[in-house]
Amino acid sequence: MKSNNIFKKFISFSLATLSVIFISNCKGESNQKTELIGLNNFETAKITQTQSLRNLAESAGMRMGTSVLINPLREDGTYREVLGREFNNLTPENAMKFGQLSTARGNYNFADADEIVAFAQNHNMQIHGHTLVWHRNLPDWFKNGQWSRQEAMKILREHIFTVVRRYRGKVTSWDVVNEAISDQGTLRDSIWLQTIGPEYIEMAFRWAHAADPKARLFYNDYNAEQLGKKSHAVYKLVQQLRQKDVPIHGVGFQMHTSIKKPPSSKAVSANIERLEKLGLEVKITEMDVKIHEDDKPRSEKLAAQAKIYQNIANVCLKAPNCNSLTTWGVADHWSWVPKFFNRTDAPLLFDEFYQPKPAYTALSETFYQNK
Ligand code: G3I
Repeated sequence: MKSNNIFKKFISFSLATLSVIFISNCKGESNQKTELIGLNNFETAKITQTQSLRNLAESAGMRMGTSVLINPLREDGTYREVLGREFNNLTPENAMKFGQLSTARGNYNFADADEIVAFAQNHNMQIHGHTLVWHRNLPDWFKNGQWSRQEAMKILREHIFTVVRRYRGKVTSWDVVNEAISDQGTLRDSIWLQTIGPEYIEMAFRWAHAADPKARLFYNDYNAEQLGKKSHAVYKLVQQLRQKDVPIHGVGFQMHTSIKKPPSSKAVSANIERLEKLGLEVKITEMDVKIHEDDKPRSEKLAAQAKIYQNIANVCLKAPNCNSLTTWGVADHWSWVPKFFNRTDAPLLFDEFYQPKPAYTALSETFYQNK
């Protein structure tokens, strides 16, 4: 359990020598086994295949999530196998965004999102819906239209009700509003702010709650994990929402980070702690760790990356209000990072052959030690 640190106190692992190897070929066969080797003073400790990352996370009181793309879900059997085996939280990476769902006003195509939801249900996974209100990935019909405040409110309300109602009881939590704060710590100048005004944020939460009163509702943002201008602004925003009794249950820390600028565990902890005092949960919603910027040998870069994943897992494990860590993609070749930055990178837990990387091992160890 999360609170049980006795295991840690009595057994001193040398993490440097602890590694997980896959005994059989790891490219998706279902008879994979993992085994811990090089354990100091604790020879009986073993992680078997029944203790996949999702099982280890669960026994430590956490959920292990990933984002999911529809193309590999449909076309790549190994992707499906790793996804179902290793993760128990699933976030549709794009399929539930307004722009993906709605090609014309009032028209919705739920085929991709439905398929992802069905996969999650068949594999006993929770779904974190992403995202109801964002300034990006909007339908052209909306982006290019001229809307009065009343019309924009009607569109937003209809969108939220249509999507949240459809997945009521299936989607456990939602990123209701995504990235509404600018890097300067002000409200982002978006089409929502321009047409509706700052109230669009609380309206969105209230409508989402009305559409599914049981869903847990989150504000989600990047570069707001540590203490600084942006996270102070996020804090102030959610504090005001709480004061107004707006139904918000938590804050998502995206955690797109890199080995060049690793997040400070202390600062992330302090930020999680102040949100706890507001009665809010925190989820690590989109974690990836870029290694490209650094000139060190690849093995060193992967070790540094592993350490960052481990540190963030530890921060979350220690916080009573943080119970879930999601990576933004299953394997490196499906990450948004190389495409977006136009250069190679390897920010996730599995490589392009679905081999587990040191970051996978580090997370396994961390969860194992916090059983
Ligand atoms: O669906 C169209 C397809 O019809 C078309 O043929 C193709 C041509 O490029 O584009 C497809 O849309 C792409 C979409 O992903 C779905 O694949 C967009 O071009 C592409 O820009 C879009 O990128 C996504 C991005 O959000 C914008 O929505 C990334 O995959 C996704 O990883 C990224 O995720 C965001 C989170 O939602 C919020 N936080 C930051 C994170 C990273 O940017």
